[in-house]
Amino acid sequence: MTTQTAVVRVPGTTANLGSGFDVLGIALKLYNRVAVTRVPRRGVRIVSPISDEARAGATQMVEEASSAFFRKTRTRAFGWDVSITGDVPVARGLGSSTTVLVGALAALDAIAGTGLGKEGVFQLANELEGHPDNAAPATFGGFTASAPAPEGARVARFPVSSKVRFVVLVPGFEVRTSDARRLLPSAYPKADVVHALGRVAMITAAFASGDLGSLAGMFDDRVHQPCRTPLIPALPRVIAAGVRAGAVGGWLSGSGSTIVCLATADAEPVGRAMQRALPESRLHVVAADASGYRLERPRP
Ligand code: HSE
Repeated sequence: MTTQTAVVRVPGTTANLGSGFDVLGIALKLYNRVAVTRVPRRGVRIVSPISDEARAGATQMVEEASSAFFRKTRTRAFGWDVSITGDVPVARGLGSSTTVLVGALAALDAIAGTGLGKEGVFQLANELEGHPDNAAPATFGGFTASAPAPEGARVARFPVSSKVRFVVLVPGFEVRTSDARRLLPSAYPKADVVHALGRVAMITAAFASGDLGSLAGMFDDRVHQPCRTPLIPALPRVIAAGVRAGAVGGWLSGSGSTIVCLATADAEPVGRAMQRALPESRLHVVAADASGYRLERPRP
């Protein structure tokens, strides 16, 4: 007998980490819960409260996830209801859409007994999103670097010390990833490419070795942050304030609007300084999530 309801807890994520555009990401201890129930009718319905505007985007995403899932697994389609609850804010660069996508695919996999597992869920989420930097950490946890490969996307994952704190400043305004991607140029000068390559190598090496002291100065970026600053004008001043207060560095989280600073010592002054630089914002101080999405027992 297959399960009829599956609940998946999925971590929010911070992607890019400066110059690791579409490549680097970290899972955060900030979670959404996605509950999927198989129902005896066709189609997908979002049953949790959601604004009309958010509903349109989310409905399209879950419908695409549904078609892709049944096509990929060659399973006879069934109807399902989905409920999304949790702490990951919408359209703030913390991977909230990815939590819904990964959670829905993982729940469908559990209900249908299709055996995609984490690797299959990740590959399908990556195909649907077009970049793996949120789907990889949301699936596997920790720090991830991903690259396209003949078999799909290849992921290297490293654990993040539970002592590290991510100081997450969530502005009151939204940024749509599609709008923020339109601001980027289609080509870059060689010097900027070399600048980015060095940083991606150094950041990945620091998380792989655990020597996070070598991260200082490595989060400055010429790939996407300068073009996106008009959407988040406080970005340079919030990062500078965090670093002055003791952060190792900071970056625009995904395509924004959230700004994240990494603290290996006392995170509290870092958060205070960041919030002073942008008072209309919410602050979360969190560690990295270590294991990515997980199935939970449905509550009776
Ligand atoms: N890497 C993507 C971007 C967003 O910066 O457009 C991931 O959330």
